[in-house]
Amino acid sequence: MSTQTYRASLLHFAAATSSPKLDYVFIADGLLVTRNGKVEFIGEYKDNINQYLGAVHHDFSGKLILPGFIDSHLHFPQTEMLASFGEQLLDWLTDYTFPVERKFENKDYASRIAKVFLNQLHRHGTTTGMVYSSVHKQATDALFEEAQKTDMLLIAGKVCMDRHCPDWLQDTPESAQRDSADLIDTWHNNGRLKYAITPRFAPTSTKEQLHALGELAQQYPDVYIQTHLSENHNEIAWVKELFPERKNYLDVYDHYNLLRKGAVFGHGIHLEQTEWQRLRETQASIAFCPTSNLFLGSGLFDLAKAQQENVPVMLATDVGGGTSFSMLKTLGEAYKICQLKGNQIDPMQGLYLMTQGAAVTLGLDDKIGNLNVDTDADFVILDPEFDELTTLRFENHRTPQDLIFALSMLADDRAIHATYVAGEPVYQAKKQTKEEAHNVT
Ligand code: GUN
Ligand code: ZN
Repeated sequence: MSTQTYRASLLHFAAATSSPKLDYVFIADGLLVTRNGKVEFIGEYKDNINQYLGAVHHDFSGKLILPGFIDSHLHFPQTEMLASFGEQLLDWLTDYTFPVERKFENKDYASRIAKVFLNQLHRHGTTTGMVYSSVHKQATDALFEEAQKTDMLLIAGKVCMDRHCPDWLQDTPESAQRDSADLIDTWHNNGRLKYAITPRFAPTSTKEQLHALGELAQQYPDVYIQTHLSENHNEIAWVKELFPERKNYLDVYDHYNLLRKGAVFGHGIHLEQTEWQRLRETQASIAFCPTSNLFLGSGLFDLAKAQQENVPVMLATDVGGGTSFSMLKTLGEAYKICQLKGNQIDPMQGLYLMTQGAAVTLGLDDKIGNLNVDTDADFVILDPEFDELTTLRFENHRTPQDLIFALSMLADDRAIHATYVAGEPVYQAKKQTKEEAHNVT
C-alpha cells in the first residue's frame, strides 16, 4: 500500500491517563500519514508535508480525524431487533431475543446479518467491537469470516447457555467448552481477530457449564472473557436464588475463574461494595451501556463511583438492548445518566472511554485507540458541520471539548464522513472529489 497523507484537525490521547480532560493531543491543522496499514507520522501539516512529495494526498481541511471508536459490548444477532417495544430485561430476552437468535442456526442467514452489522459499525465510526454472537458455532464463524474481509480488529465469542432458555438454543457444558476451544484455535490472533469466552450470564449457565468455561479460560490465559453482570433487579434476585452459596453476583463468576484482567462485564449497575472491590483487585472492567440501560429501564450506572473505586470502565452500545450503533449518541446518553446521578462526564473523558481508555483496558493500546506512530491505521473522519443546525452551532465556537460535546448530543452517522480500517476506507459518506484526493506536489 502506498503512502497516504491526510490533512485535517487531529484529536487523540497519546497515552494512558487519569485526566483525559487535560491530556489530549489536538492539532488544528494536522497531518496524518499512513503506510502499509499503519500510522507512519502524525504532526503539523505545514511543517511536514514537504517530506511526502509524491504521496497520495487527501485534503480533509475543516474535518476532524479521531481514532476509530471501540464499542466494548454489543450483540450481532440482535441487529434486526433494535427498538422492540416495551419490556424489561428478562421478558425482553424471552419475547424478542431468543426467537431472533434462533435464526442464526442457519449460517447463510448469519453471514447476511454479519455484513449488515459490520456495515453499521463502520458507518458509525466504530472500528473495533467486543461482540456476542449467538449460541451457534457456525454463526460465530460467519461473523469472524465477514470481519476478516475488512481486516478489522474484532473481538467476539459464541454465547454459551445450557439452561433457562428454550431447548432449541441450548448447548451443554461439553459442547460449549469444545466449540469455544475450536473457535479460539481457529480465530484467536488469526490476523487481527481475537476471541472472548462468552457465557451469556449466570442464570443461563449451569454450574457445570461455568466450571467448563473457567477451565477453558485457564487454558487460554490471553483470551478475553465477556458476560453480563448486575443489570436488573429481578435478574440479581434470580442469581441469588440460583447460587445461594455465593456471596454475590460477581462471586459466581469469580468462583468459576471467570474474573480477571481482560474480563468485561456488561452493565454493573447495582453492584455491592465487595463487588466493586473485587473488580478493582482483578482489574476486570465494566462496559457502561447507557442507551440500553435507559431503554430496558435497568437503572443508572454510577460512573463517578467506578472511578472512585478505580474500576476500569468502557462505553458500549449493547445493540440491540441499546438503541443506536452510534458511539457519539452513546456518549450523549452517558452524559444524561451522569446528570441524573448528580455528576458530569467531561466530553474528553467520554471520548477517552471509547478510544484510548478502552484500548488500554483491553491491553490493545499498542494497536488501536490512538493515532500514535506504528499503531494500526484505524481512524474516523468526522464532519462536524453535517447539516444546517450543526453548521450554525459551530460557526463561532469550536474548542475540542465543545465540539465533542455538541456532537455527542446532536450527531449520529450523519457526522461520519469516512471510516478507515488498517489504512483502507471501509465507509465513505461521499466519494472523494479530485480536490480532496490528489498527489502531493
Ligand atoms: N443479559 C443476558 N443476555 C442479555 C442480552 O442479550 N442483552 C442484555 N442487555 N442483557 C442480557
Ligand atoms: Zn448485552
